[in-house]
Amino acid sequence: MSTTTSRLPILDADATLRALRDLRAKQPVKYSAFYSSQLGGIVTDPALMVIPFDDHMVHRGHGIFDTAGLVDGKVYDLEAHLDRFARSAELSKLRLPGSRAEMRDIIIGTTAASGRRDGAIRYWLSSGPGSLELSPAPGSEPGFFVMIFPGLVYPERWYTEGLRVMTTTFPIKPALYAITKTTNYLPNVLMQLEAKEAGLDNGVFIDANGHVGESSNMNVAFVTGDGVLRHPRFDHILSGCTARRMLELAPALQASGLLQGVEVCDIPVADARAAREMLLIGSSVKVAPIVQWDGQPIGDGKPGPVAKALLDLIEQDMRTGDRLIPVPY
Ligand SMILES: Cc1ncc(COP(=O)(O)O)c(C=O)c1O
Repeated sequence: MSTTTSRLPILDADATLRALRDLRAKQPVKYSAFYSSQLGGIVTDPALMVIPFDDHMVHRGHGIFDTAGLVDGKVYDLEAHLDRFARSAELSKLRLPGSRAEMRDIIIGTTAASGRRDGAIRYWLSSGPGSLELSPAPGSEPGFFVMIFPGLVYPERWYTEGLRVMTTTFPIKPALYAITKTTNYLPNVLMQLEAKEAGLDNGVFIDANGHVGESSNMNVAFVTGDGVLRHPRFDHILSGCTARRMLELAPALQASGLLQGVEVCDIPVADARAAREMLLIGSSVKVAPIVQWDGQPIGDGKPGPVAKALLDLIEQDMRTGDRLIPVPY
């Protein structure tokens, strides 16, 4: 970066576009398509996937987002993700850009334009550009953005060997901010960086009452010694669409005796540490076993059968369940 201000160039549109393309050449990305309500359409050149600097989402974090999975040319559980998006918008005092049907059409249309059959669909709502004030600029229009990308990919060993996690030293978000999927992910980012610096895979938030919260961008759940699947209550953590679906599917494992029950309740840390299995759950990770927490083994320190059975149930639901929308490519 130059320190001689007198040499700073003033860029015209062509030079700016070249600079944007150079940035992408230096750091290639695999974004297949991007819709922007501000542009009024879809771009497929990642250099053009931009939003104005003064959009309130950029400089004040006044925005929300959500991510749905794309599996074999079908969008998985989009309605649950749109429900959460609408709830987050309301809690953030953000106006939706149009009707739910219009948003759904834009999401599916952008996916079709991308040509991508597997990956993730992330979409954002911002309060729009127009000023650098704390309140949104008068007359600002909400911005709606949709990105189609390969999704987050995790190491195979997470499933075969299990993850190692730590209790984060960063405080959990107050409930209102934790249940709202806003673009304010600083505690979540810091938690993940802290775990990586410690040579671990991720962190876990504990709440002020000593109950288990969630992980950085995933939920956590437990299988008790007597075989009950326990998930923390959703009043102070994000309502994970995958965790919610897993809790609906899990009773099927009672028939084979793999589970004795399913509960959503407050989980004191001491009870959690005594669990037979610990699970990490989310749209991208699906269900993965956690085998070590704060240096102590969970159960026998090996991936357990419930984690694998729940992963199979979720994967089957993602491929052949009744919550799939085919993309009209
Ligand atoms: C903080 C947090 N908790 C949990 C989840 C899991 O939610 P989902 O299953 O909808 O991906 C996410 C991911 O969106 C998250 O960001």
